[in-house]
Amino acid sequence: MAVLVTGGAGYIGSHTCIELLNAGEDIVVIDNFYNSKPRAIELIKEITGRDFAFYENDCCDESALDRIFAENFITEVIHFAGYKAVGESCLKPVMYYENNLQSTISLLKVMQKYGCKKLVFSSSATVYGIPAKVPVTEKMKLSAINPYGSTKLIIENMCRELYASDKEWSIALLRYFNPIGAHESGKIGEDPNGIPNNLMPLILRAASGKMATLSVFGNDYPTPDGTCVRDYIHVVDLALGHVAAIKSVRKETGCPAYNLGTGKGYSVLEIINAFEKVNGVKIPYVIAARRPGDAAECYSNPDLAKKKLGWTAERGIEQMCRDSWNYIKNNA
Ligand code: UFG
Repeated sequence: MAVLVTGGAGYIGSHTCIELLNAGEDIVVIDNFYNSKPRAIELIKEITGRDFAFYENDCCDESALDRIFAENFITEVIHFAGYKAVGESCLKPVMYYENNLQSTISLLKVMQKYGCKKLVFSSSATVYGIPAKVPVTEKMKLSAINPYGSTKLIIENMCRELYASDKEWSIALLRYFNPIGAHESGKIGEDPNGIPNNLMPLILRAASGKMATLSVFGNDYPTPDGTCVRDYIHVVDLALGHVAAIKSVRKETGCPAYNLGTGKGYSVLEIINAFEKVNGVKIPYVIAARRPGDAAECYSNPDLAKKKLGWTAERGIEQMCRDSWNYIKNNA
């Protein structure tokens, strides 16, 4: 019996594989290394001292998925595989719809064929669009403001409709806020192929001199220091949220959504200051124009995950900044 992890070599996927293995779960991993590297698979095995089956395949490939289910007794699936860059999704919407929807449709078809009806889906706080108020609760109105967000919302709806059609399904939709940080070993962390576009990978580039200055997108928002506020969450806490979600889909059917965040908001300048203080390095930055589509504030109310999954984020902002930098220093 094993949990299938799609996109298990990626940033959140690899940290989740480690926590699943540490919790005594058996896993099978599929990844096509589109935005990850084979080394991540070796490192997961090295860090945990555990072995598992790995398939280098695309999740859109239904026959490959079928083979994985035929060769392994898969009892639950955590579906991470997908494209995730908001800006790129605006430039290549068809590519995003094709990949993110096709992979999920292929997966759900094969799961149905093999009678595997327990799924944890990698959703995102993006499904709240520009939130009308903060903190954001799961009951708030959903909307998509870019193609990436549309794919997440469509998949969430598909899951809700699937459960409505067959009450044997047990699906947890996990809405991530802003994952940063890295494994405490310093061996794995965020390692995107190409130029990053999220705040922490760019702070790391500025800190290590790979980028001259970081642009802070806007300082005239209605927030305490004028810069945008987000709910940054340590990737290991996020990974542990998946272990809790797997236990929950085993226990009860349904299709609930859970916010996975800390419930605390930090501004861009607060993150820069915390990073500089904890790590003793300077982040050269300039104030730049606002980035289109950014909400002034977005942070979670994580109470439902606490109540239903028994999960809360425990790692603070200092540890997030320290572990992010530690990973870069170790892998320079
Ligand atoms: N920012 C900068 N400069 C940069 C990059 C980012 O100032 O060079 C700011 C942004 O304006 C924003 C904050 O840093 O205020 C965080 O930006 P990210 O791009 O790291 O994250 P977002 O909150 O925009 O988006 C993240 C994920 C999305 C997800 C969304 C859900 O990247 O996948 O959260 O809320 F959809």
